[in-house]
Amino acid sequence: MDVTALKARLDSIGQASVLRFVDRLDEQAKTAFLAQLESLDVRLLADLVSAYVRQKPHVSLPTDIRPVDAYPREADAKRNELYVRALARGHALLKAGKVGAFLVAGGQGTRLGYDGPKGEYPVTPIRKHPLFRVFAEQLLAHSRRAGKSIPWYIMTSDANDARTRAFFEQHHFFGYPKSDVFFFQQGMMPAFDAKTGQMLLAEKGSLALSPDGHGGSLRAIDRSGALADMQKRGIEHLSYFQVDNPIVHTIDPLFIGLHDLSGSEMSSKTIGKAGPLEKVGNFCIGDGVLQVIEYSDLPEELARKTHADGRLMFDAGSIAIHALRVDFIARLNAGGQLKLPWHRADKKVPFVDDAGNAVKPEANNAVKLEQFVFDAIPLASNAIVYTTAREEEFSPVKNADEAGKVVSDSPTTCARDQVRRAARWLETVGVRVPRKPDGEPDCLIEIGPRYAASLADLRERAPQMTINPGDQVVLDID
Ligand code: UD1
Repeated sequence: MDVTALKARLDSIGQASVLRFVDRLDEQAKTAFLAQLESLDVRLLADLVSAYVRQKPHVSLPTDIRPVDAYPREADAKRNELYVRALARGHALLKAGKVGAFLVAGGQGTRLGYDGPKGEYPVTPIRKHPLFRVFAEQLLAHSRRAGKSIPWYIMTSDANDARTRAFFEQHHFFGYPKSDVFFFQQGMMPAFDAKTGQMLLAEKGSLALSPDGHGGSLRAIDRSGALADMQKRGIEHLSYFQVDNPIVHTIDPLFIGLHDLSGSEMSSKTIGKAGPLEKVGNFCIGDGVLQVIEYSDLPEELARKTHADGRLMFDAGSIAIHALRVDFIARLNAGGQLKLPWHRADKKVPFVDDAGNAVKPEANNAVKLEQFVFDAIPLASNAIVYTTAREEEFSPVKNADEAGKVVSDSPTTCARDQVRRAARWLETVGVRVPRKPDGEPDCLIEIGPRYAASLADLRERAPQMTINPGDQVVLDID
């Protein structure tokens, strides 16, 4: 498309001002810029600007908000038979190659202050293995048990795609079969001037773009050809997890089995919240429909509400672990537009002003728009929530350490929680772990996922060993 046609197209939605410096660009920069602009869905942009940028969308909470009745972690008497069947079903699905793994790793990791894909971050307590390696080795362990390689879909973004692929190449895919790893990029969304609704320029020949949120993964799966690849391979379910949590069970046969047997299109794991205002989403039944209400949207009086025995009423925290049916993702994309709402975030975004000067704003000047994957839950049939334990499955690396204090969700707390879990698993299978007077393990332990990706695996290994105070113990297969 030439400049005139593109200008007409952008003019039709009042956004042609981004072309104001186009005549000053050299040929190469001009071609790249025009390609960027051509890829925009102008009708969608026009709708988004009027609905989310020119006005602050009203967050309409359901009028009737109730706690969710989640499946318990361990079967109770009435669910014993169901859990036995679900575990068997999960294993059977894995064996039949009907489960894929889906990692979202497109975020920018700004809070951690790490300049690169977060999956490169060295996270294990002794050997400092990166997050990507931990996930790869877990998936290898599950593949081995299933007797079938688990296809692994990894969503990156423009900001980290090349580096992520290079990291995998450099590490020989951590032993994963290369033909079973599918990288794809999520979409990017322009930032808009909060006052005028105009798209902002990062440079004279480039828009200020940022990833369109993890919800965008459900669009990118379709557009990238990943969905078609899944359908070709006969994959029915995806196990979805985030890049920041090394103790996640990337594959959980019981969870997958419950999801499948209940006919759920999208299932989620929950943990009890650390306190009423913990910054995690809340699973609730809103006007009769299962959904996640973000911590920032749940009224404080509800967040603090308790049962008669003092337990929090809204205790079901979202840890962004899901199982999704491939058919459901196809349905969400039917008709060419992903059926998820958008969320507005007011941010400071550097830009090039009308005179061509680079401006670094001191206050919020821009609106960014993102979609969230959990907004698909209310659209799913038979959606279920299953309870897991924080100490077993959730210790993300989100925030940078700070000298002299314990920062939550930091590299330090994450390493601590990996050691705590390893110590607990070992004690459960009969190994004595030295402990300090405060109860913390008096040693460092790292269990490689290929040695044991779960307590059940460790039980089968039946390790016999002596651990002395101060030891550093690595359990792995080589
Ligand atoms: C998120 C959830 C929160 C949940 C918490 C659990 C939101 C708004 N909140 O919080 O409910 O309790 O995780 O850890 O999501 N990502 C992309 N592309 C994007 C944005 C993010 O791939 O455009 C990926 C990141 O790489 C990461 C994950 O999504 O793997 C989470 O993103 P992040 O922005 O860190 O979410 P949180 O605010 O921590």
